[in-house]
Amino acid sequence: MEGRPLLLLAGELGNSSASSLGYLEPHWETFRKLHLNTLLAPVYWELMEPAEGSFDFGLVDGLVAEARRRELKLVLLWFASWKNSMSCYAPAWVKTDPERFPRARQGDGTPLEIVSPFSDQGRDADARAFAALMRHLRDVDAEHQTVVMVQVENEIGMIPEARDRSADADELFGRAVPEELLEYLEARRGTLAPELAEIWRSPGAGSSGTWSDVFGGGAAAEEIFMAWHFGRYVEAVTAAGKAEYPLPMFVNAALPREGYVPGQYPSAGPLPHLIDVWRAAAPSVDFLAPDIYRTNFAEWCARYDRSGNPLFIPEAHADRNAAAHAFYAIGAHRALGFSPFSIEHVTDPDHLLGPAYALLSALTPTILEHQREGTLRGALVDQESPEQTLELSGYRMKVRHDYTWGWAEKGPEGEAWPRAGALLAATGADAFLIAGTGVIVTFESATDDGRVGILRAREQGLVGGELVPGRWLNGDQTHQGRHIRIPAGRVGLQRFELYRYR
Ligand code: DGJ
Repeated sequence: MEGRPLLLLAGELGNSSASSLGYLEPHWETFRKLHLNTLLAPVYWELMEPAEGSFDFGLVDGLVAEARRRELKLVLLWFASWKNSMSCYAPAWVKTDPERFPRARQGDGTPLEIVSPFSDQGRDADARAFAALMRHLRDVDAEHQTVVMVQVENEIGMIPEARDRSADADELFGRAVPEELLEYLEARRGTLAPELAEIWRSPGAGSSGTWSDVFGGGAAAEEIFMAWHFGRYVEAVTAAGKAEYPLPMFVNAALPREGYVPGQYPSAGPLPHLIDVWRAAAPSVDFLAPDIYRTNFAEWCARYDRSGNPLFIPEAHADRNAAAHAFYAIGAHRALGFSPFSIEHVTDPDHLLGPAYALLSALTPTILEHQREGTLRGALVDQESPEQTLELSGYRMKVRHDYTWGWAEKGPEGEAWPRAGALLAATGADAFLIAGTGVIVTFESATDDGRVGILRAREQGLVGGELVPGRWLNGDQTHQGRHIRIPAGRVGLQRFELYRYR
């Protein structure tokens, strides 16, 4: 498999798992069984540059060789200055030299294990190391392209306060907002993220002056200030890497809980309300990506699928909802890919992710065609919201959770329903395909008041990775022509045709 797979059917390794090829050895078989085409794996600054200027690419080379041998692509995660806010992956020579690599501080002066984004030395050291990594990858991998993309840092953000309160940070916070940022925002006034536009329009917000003058003060202004400076630092690192080997590069975000304020959640990360600030600060970064562990999965997909930002989900729970989430993100939001976290531990033979990825892999050319044509939809339903209505090709389709149907075989009494999700494509005037898990779909005309029936439906199976037609579904399998159904606990694909009657 040369080039980039166009749909990343991926999984992310646990944090420490790529630090030992021996540890990883038994897990390659898990990735094969899950039908992964891409693995997200960390590269650790501390292990790659144990002494300043002396690089050890042994782990990276081993990882690339193993992945290539198994026809897997890699997305590398550059765990460097920041990993979940902290600087735990900075090499010892950085950690132990706070004079050269100053720390962010709390308001009471307490230093944090967070390299200050106002540290030019930290930025330059990180950029040099990242450039060395990308140069090395160009040398060893440009021909094969096993590594297809790179995440720069991991879940950047300031915690437990909204901004760094070191002396350098205080000084800059009191200065004027850079012209560069103001011009960027001004030029895009009409298309800014609504949350940012709101802050900018807030009482007391001016068009020039300090951060508090322009962004109305408080934690909101502090967060924007930090986002700009984190972004500038990441821009320097990313640009240095791209100058050596310009792979696509992105940043990922830890998402806030409802009602939390900056500092309670990692402030100033690449969050949707800060997309314009991050873009202005870090133009070399290709996109912003959400790590979606929150239950309002669909909402976060929507908040990242805007302003031309492509949706890629580098982390999500690898739980029993993962397959439904994959179908939904790809169908409803044209996601580039999906990647549950700690993938090496997904070994339950009944887990639906493997069969879902096998289907999605076989369907990739079809999915891409329909993503381009705008004839693809996605649905996600659960116990709280068991029903969703879609419109596609002149039909209104009601997608319900399988358990809403009296005849469905349900899970144990009292157990929450697994999420159900599907993608639907219009393959002809009255012809469709559906792939997913746990859904029941009924149909109405969206164009007149005629009634709609199922003309025919056929399931599609997989033999040796190829799609093959299976049973013609009718009778009990379509509730005598009333619905299309993929039962919960299974992944399925069906092609069906509808007709209208009066
Ligand atoms: C999100 C981080 O990005 C991951 O590296 C890992 O720490 C997970 N959280 C753990 O849930």
